[in-house]
Parts: sequence; structure tokens; C-alpha cells
Amino acid sequence: MDIGKVLISADEIDEKLTEMGAAITRDYEGKDLLLIGILKGAFVVMADLARHIDLPVEFDFMAISSYGSATKSSGVVRILKDLDQEIADRHVLIVEDIVDTGLTLHYLLKNLQVRKPASLELAALLIKDGVERPPLEVRYEGFHIPPKFVVGYGLDLDGKFRNLPYVAEVEGAD
Ligand code: IMP
Ligand code: MG
Repeated sequence: MDIGKVLISADEIDEKLTEMGAAITRDYEGKDLLLIGILKGAFVVMADLARHIDLPVEFDFMAISSYGSATKSSGVVRILKDLDQEIADRHVLIVEDIVDTGLTLHYLLKNLQVRKPASLELAALLIKDGVERPPLEVRYEGFHIPPKFVVGYGLDLDGKFRNLPYVAEVEGAD
């Protein structure tokens, strides 16, 4: 499979993350914010988004494995690495690369809500349109994209292409 057309350029991503970071900075002013990145895909978004947030944020990460083929999610989620810290009474913002079926986030929200954070919100760089998913409120969203498999900016195909500085389609993936 080859990298197809560039869907979102590095400059467009940077501009969007600047806006998202400004909104987060405004909304969490005076609050103690914990960012939770979902590994591995979200590590690039997390690093760049966080640098546009002008607050003393803390970081934590969860690693999730969602079973399925290389390009289709199955909805069965397993926690490979849990948070290092407790989140009770903390303001928590989950940072994700992409919302596809939404099953991963749906599962995570349920799992984290039980730990009684002061607040729990979502930020995602990409949202796939035209996909049926459980109700999910993404407070900070980047771009809506067609329901095609994409790579780059943290997103992989069989572990590769996460390092591309842009988001691109994959020829022959769907
Ligand atoms: P979900 O279907 O919303 O649960 O997505 C779960 C995970 O699948 C995301 O966090 C990504 O890591 C991965 N994923 C979903 N769509 C794509 C894609 O188009 N390219 C690469 N990874 C994807
Ligand atoms: Mg993945």
C-alpha cells in the first residue's frame, strides 16, 4: 500500500492545534489540568497541542489495544498501560488522534468516569464523518474527515507512517 493524497497539511494542523490550545487555555484558566494521551497514536498530537496550552498542565498516558484488522476497529479494548496517577477530583482532558467508531473513547470514558474526576472532556484531532458511533461529545475537535483510512501525525498502518508530519490517505486501504 502507498501513501495517497495529503488530506491535511502540517501547516493546517499547526494552525488548528493553536486554536484548540487557545480554547483549552481559556477554559481551564485557574484550574489544575491533567492531559491524558492515548498511546500510541496520540503522542504526536499530545506533544504539539500541549505546547499551545499556556497553563501548568500535567501529563499522563494510557496504552490501549483495540483488536481488529490493520484498518478496521473491532471495539474490543484492552488496557496495556494504565495511568500512573489517580484522577479523583482532577480536571482531566483526554487527547486522542482520531475518533472512528468511537468505541475506544466510549470504553475509556466509562472506565475513567468511575474514578470520579472533577471533570472529564475529550480533545481529538480528527473525527471521521459518516460513521455510526455511540453518543460522544468531543469538546475540542480538529478536523472532520471522510470515513477513509488515514496515516501520519501519529496514525499508523501496521505500525508505520506515524512520523509523517501531515495526514494522508492510504491507497488501496478501504
Ligand atoms: P475507534 O474506532 O474510534 O475506537 O478508533 C480506535 C483507534 O483506531 C484510534 O485511536 C486510532 O489509533 C485507530 N484508527 C482509527 N481510524 C484510523 C485511521 O484512519 N488510521 C489509523 N488509525 C486509525
Ligand atoms: Mg492505531
